[in-house]
Amino acid sequence: MANVVIIGAGGVGHVVAHKCAQVPEVFEQITLASRTLSKCETIAAGVRDRTGREIAVRRVDADRVAELTALFREIKPDLVINVALPYQDLTIMDACLETGVHYLDTANYEPPDTARFEYSWQWAYRDKFEQAGLMALLGSGFDPGVTNVFTSWIAKHALDDLHTLDIVDVNGGDHGRPFATNFNPEINIREVTAPCRHWEDGAFRETPAMSRNTRFYCPESVGEYSIYRMYHEELESLVTYYPSLRRAQFWMSFSENYLKHLEVLQNVGMTRIDPVTYQGVEIIPLQFLKAVLPEPSSLGEDTRGKTCIGVIAGGTSDGEPKTVYVYNICDHQDAYRELGSQAISYTTGVPAMIGAQMMLRGEWMKPGVWNMEQFDPDPFMDALNRHGLPWTVQDPATVSVP
Ligand SMILES: NC(=O)c1ccc[n+]([C@@H]2O[C@H](COP(=O)([O-])OP(=O)(O)OC[C@H]3O[C@@H](n4cnc5c(N)ncnc54)[C@H](OP(=O)(O)O)[C@@H]3O)[C@@H](O)[C@H]2O)c1
Repeated sequence: MANVVIIGAGGVGHVVAHKCAQVPEVFEQITLASRTLSKCETIAAGVRDRTGREIAVRRVDADRVAELTALFREIKPDLVINVALPYQDLTIMDACLETGVHYLDTANYEPPDTARFEYSWQWAYRDKFEQAGLMALLGSGFDPGVTNVFTSWIAKHALDDLHTLDIVDVNGGDHGRPFATNFNPEINIREVTAPCRHWEDGAFRETPAMSRNTRFYCPESVGEYSIYRMYHEELESLVTYYPSLRRAQFWMSFSENYLKHLEVLQNVGMTRIDPVTYQGVEIIPLQFLKAVLPEPSSLGEDTRGKTCIGVIAGGTSDGEPKTVYVYNICDHQDAYRELGSQAISYTTGVPAMIGAQMMLRGEWMKPGVWNMEQFDPDPFMDALNRHGLPWTVQDPATVSVP
């Protein structure tokens, strides 16, 4: 029976709070803390209505280690689930080290002033966490997260050697708004406008953002979508832990409408992350844009359609070439009916709760800083089936990315 603090009362925090509340035998005491207390209170009221459970709420500025350590000393959690923004990863890790608390997140650290996606900053904490006897689990969302676990499941059960990896993230959901992002707009737009990097023959190769696309036919009538190659953080850990990979790529679907809006916003300078002075005040254009776009957590009611996210891995099995596909399909309206959330927050929040459960039950518990593919995938895969994200295996795969 454990005591957890969830940090971040956004779209993902909403799902994590509800999903933890659904598992009282593991999550006995839950505190939701965020920058805006009223958002925590709204989520806590939803948890009370849906599950009958009370969760505590607190205000905290997670950019300040002193505020975090004071909170952790008061609540004495076993584990902190960080679903605030990637900018807060290091301050929360520092506070965990200072107060002796395990740590989990869903996105790697990014410095606010440069859109650089890499694990270097968090991997540098390995010795400190190991010496403190504490565990940090990085990237326990869907991608990264479940995609890493799908890869390790394929490596364990379906292929002897991995040679190629294509992670395909299709969001077939339509929210009916002219332009909106499905998770934090600032983080989302930084990610999709960054140059593309993919792994080929022992090195990351850089190409312009959105310069390569293809059509992808999803299984189970989800539909056919244009997918674009882009960099995504799990590529870094997967090529590190599966050195037999000759090529690893990440693909995401975008509608023409989304890309048209994004191009205009880029052209007029609204996606810039350097400060500009406006009426004597310094503002970051992308942060201003976030303030005028719809909150991702408000999109649930109107979003129709499904997500289809999976891993296509090629390699050998008993000396023969083979390709295997493991995927999950999540219906936006099913997620809304269960938790009042859209599927992007749902597919991120459920694996965050499962990762926390793996750690707290001792199934995945080891001092140090770890990525998801470094643990036995089997108990995590079983939990996905039980907690709302069932998966399917095509062995051999009938889908492909040219
Ligand atoms: N791995 C995956 O599959 C995946 C997928 C989607 C998202 N994610 C990650 O999940 C995280 C949450 O995404 P989201 O869509 O839920 O974002 P969101 O709706 O913007 O929520 C973020 C929350 O964090 C809070 N916050 C921001 N700065 C804070 C600070 N300094 N101190 C305390 N709280 C702070 C915000 O507070 P305010 O409301 O006061 O601003 C907000 O409630 C992000 O890191 C995102 O990258 C991962």
